[in-house]
Amino acid sequence: MYLTKDEEALLSGEKGEGSRKAMELLVALGDIFEAPRLIPISSAHLSGVSYKTIAEGGISFLEELAVDAKVKVPTTLNPAGMDREKWKEMGISPRFADRQQHIIECYEALGVTADCSCTPFLSTNIPRKGDTLAWAESSALSFANSMVGARTNREGGPGALAAAIVGKTPEYGLHLDENRKPSVVIDVEVEDPDHSLLGQAVGSVVGSRIPYFRGIRPDTDRAKMLAAAMAAAGSVALFHIEGVTPEADPRSIKGLEHIAIGKRELEAARNKLNTGNDPELIALGCPHLSVEEMRSLASKLKGRKRRGDAEVWFCTSRCTAAKCPKEVEVLSRFGNIVCDTCMIVAPIEERFKTTATNSAKACNYLPTLCSQKVVFRDTDGLLELIS
Ligand code: F3S
Repeated sequence: MYLTKDEEALLSGEKGEGSRKAMELLVALGDIFEAPRLIPISSAHLSGVSYKTIAEGGISFLEELAVDAKVKVPTTLNPAGMDREKWKEMGISPRFADRQQHIIECYEALGVTADCSCTPFLSTNIPRKGDTLAWAESSALSFANSMVGARTNREGGPGALAAAIVGKTPEYGLHLDENRKPSVVIDVEVEDPDHSLLGQAVGSVVGSRIPYFRGIRPDTDRAKMLAAAMAAAGSVALFHIEGVTPEADPRSIKGLEHIAIGKRELEAARNKLNTGNDPELIALGCPHLSVEEMRSLASKLKGRKRRGDAEVWFCTSRCTAAKCPKEVEVLSRFGNIVCDTCMIVAPIEERFKTTATNSAKACNYLPTLCSQKVVFRDTDGLLELIS
């Protein structure tokens, strides 16, 4: 990969050890993917925040970088392993809380905005069409690529952090026009499907291909559920929706394979996700609930009575919760408003064995990352379990 004089200087350690390490990582990535050069990014979003997922090894990596490096572009942070204010109510141990807080402080020392949310595109880090990004968090980066028309590869946490420190990323993959074209057409034959389930059905058949949807017109909230599920069930990082997404071009699908998704496919996907009964935890907000979703949930629950003894989590960002105090008040009568974290990256396995959720993405990770049996319901189905 070609390096400018300034980039060579970073690589030789002239600008400090943290920047040298970051450059080294970018050069290794660039060489693997045969990138010709580095290109400037306008923002980064980082995963690898929960103490549960990065542990002591991750902390050492961050401590080494934080000695003398700083991010060069606006950079936001994925959910951590606990609510920073209500960690005791979540049953988090003092040791976990201490190490988690230290991780967040390392990121802050690097200049990262510790918003701890997987929906930065709703508030703290809003990309625009054509922006070059280095985003980790598969659901957020797929939303940015697809719904916004920004450009990012499916970064890992360390790669995104290195790009943030250097302010650049290797030019390969989804940064190039030729790699952003659709490779399979999805004809949705169900009116107004559950978009999380749709994402599950499509992700599991298309893998890492780029689907081009016909027959749906999702709003932002449905699109984020669709993006999250496809990224988890497959590894979709970019999709097009005819008449909706900025890069969807009907001329680009000539000669492509068509896959029809109807009731039968959605039902099969639903059946595969369900592995349990009688949830001890009922969790909504994967990806984090938006203001509109908080409003919709609060209006559905208004006037209803809480029932059942399962613990209930409404996972959202602190920023979103602050924008809707009335909804927070209503929802708090039915469960906990959990900020900064989610049902996957919090250590829920220490307290629960079965979790119910309306997120296909969460259903993919609950068994493996949280040792949970899973109950999948749509939003109304979950609300019936608690009211
Ligand atoms: Fe977000 Fe956690 Fe789901 S990071 S997308 S709520 S798994």
